[in-house]
Amino acid sequence: MDLQEQVQKRKTFAIISHPDAGKTTMTEKLLLFGNLIRSAGTVKGKKSGKYATSDWMEIEKQRGISVTSSVMNFDYNSYKVNILDTPGHEDFSEDTYRTLTAVDSVVMIIDATKGIEAQTIKLFKVCKMRGIPIFTFINKLDREGREPLDLLYQIEEVLDIETYPMNWPVGMGKRFLGILDRYNDQFIQFNGNEEETYIPLDEMDQTAIAQDATYQETLEELELINEAGDQFSLERVLAGEQTPVFFGSALAPFGVQTFFDTFIQLAPAPGPRRTEDEVVDPDNPDFSGFIFKIQANMNPQHRDRIAFLRVCSGKFERGMNVTLARTGKTIRLGQTQQFVASSRDTVEEAYAGDIIGVYDSGSYRIGDTLLDGKLKSEYDELPQFPPEMFQRVSAKNVMKAKQFRKGLEQLVQEGAIQLFRGYPIDSLIIGAVGQLQYEVFQHRMKNEYNVEVLLESIGDRIPRWLKKEQVDPSMFDERNLLVKDREEDFLVLFKNDFALRWFVDKHPEIDLIDLYEVNQYDQTTYS
Ligand code: G4P
Repeated sequence: MDLQEQVQKRKTFAIISHPDAGKTTMTEKLLLFGNLIRSAGTVKGKKSGKYATSDWMEIEKQRGISVTSSVMNFDYNSYKVNILDTPGHEDFSEDTYRTLTAVDSVVMIIDATKGIEAQTIKLFKVCKMRGIPIFTFINKLDREGREPLDLLYQIEEVLDIETYPMNWPVGMGKRFLGILDRYNDQFIQFNGNEEETYIPLDEMDQTAIAQDATYQETLEELELINEAGDQFSLERVLAGEQTPVFFGSALAPFGVQTFFDTFIQLAPAPGPRRTEDEVVDPDNPDFSGFIFKIQANMNPQHRDRIAFLRVCSGKFERGMNVTLARTGKTIRLGQTQQFVASSRDTVEEAYAGDIIGVYDSGSYRIGDTLLDGKLKSEYDELPQFPPEMFQRVSAKNVMKAKQFRKGLEQLVQEGAIQLFRGYPIDSLIIGAVGQLQYEVFQHRMKNEYNVEVLLESIGDRIPRWLKKEQVDPSMFDERNLLVKDREEDFLVLFKNDFALRWFVDKHPEIDLIDLYEVNQYDQTTYS
């Protein structure tokens, strides 16, 4: 099989959602399709171990199988499927965001009873800014939820993306009869937890439909959508401008098979990626890839780490020599692993779209490019994601200042946490998107650098970057704190939304930059 064929077979995606919307349940069902597990049930008890855990580890514990915490791959029909985990719950961190730089599409799960929730918005924004195609699954139709039209409207309004319902629910909760599959012209009947029945639309019993109020309501809604809704456009879907919407229940499961079959057909195979000075096609014969995540071993006895490499072009072969673009050093990729559910198998070969785990004794940084052959330049840097929670940090014992600085510097470089410095009065402030990052930071400073750190929260803040020429320290105080980032750029940590708005009113001449908006013009994935 040539490179082109290998690439076209690959579908690499992540599932994003707010905690409890059903990501774990859906993942389990997809693993069943991939024959990775034989039975599925509800995963109970989210309060897992403290460090570097994942929802998938819960599956692991519950099912007694060994899936890894970060990536799973399996064969489905003629496709090679790679699913990347986006840790939510207490594990939410910048890794969750960075994972989205390594996928080619995303499945967004929304709980029909709750609508769009906070974490979904954050993750969605990252996908949007990178132009990643998004497929939506509205879950828990077996429960009384919000009106389907309301949900579509909310997606369009809150997330600012066109929707195209691929199917439409007939009833909901106790009156849930099934879904009208617009895309495949069939009705899929809901039979509780029994197998679903597929009926072609033109074979449906018209008399029965005419007499059923729930069906009639559905048909009216569909008429409205046909008239006022957007046309399906694969081109817009692939550009991240339209999201196909599927309704169903991950738990039943219902509508999952048709969702996945359609998704797998429409979702893009790995595409070209941009480096600093060229666009690299996935079937370029020269190998290239980048590191989007480094997982440190939390066991102090083992200081080894695993770097997660997304292959972008060429063919990876175990034992090959590659160049680490940042340093120009040659590295042999000998100890590598692929992530399959049965075990962490050694990976012998991999292609664009695949994720491999590379043993790391400290050579890699997040965002590093590995290259072979004629390729020379690095993949564009991973974007900086705006943190939301901030803490002042210092060493508990002043005598440990040297180790403290070294540890801080390394962990910041590794991307475990972001560092800011107060201005004009110097102070160290670290920023994160999730609580886990602080816990990992504290733990690693103690275990790897032997320094106990003191953290003092300054709360959740809204960061806005400033243009250098507009910086006037006298405008800021503790409430709206002026700091510098690693690149020596200035930003203000606003106390809350009210403080931000107050400032904007008072100083309309100052341009405040929201990083998400900047990143939107700085896409690195698609050419
Ligand atoms: P997450 O990974 O996104 O956090 O969500 P997860 O799949 O763990 O699901 C969260 C809860 O929602 C679970 O219930 C799960 O059973 C339930 N759920 C998922 N999909 C559906 C669905 O389609 N319909 C209904 N009715 N429920 C669904 P739980 O009470 O937290 O766990 P359990 O005690 O039921 O196992």
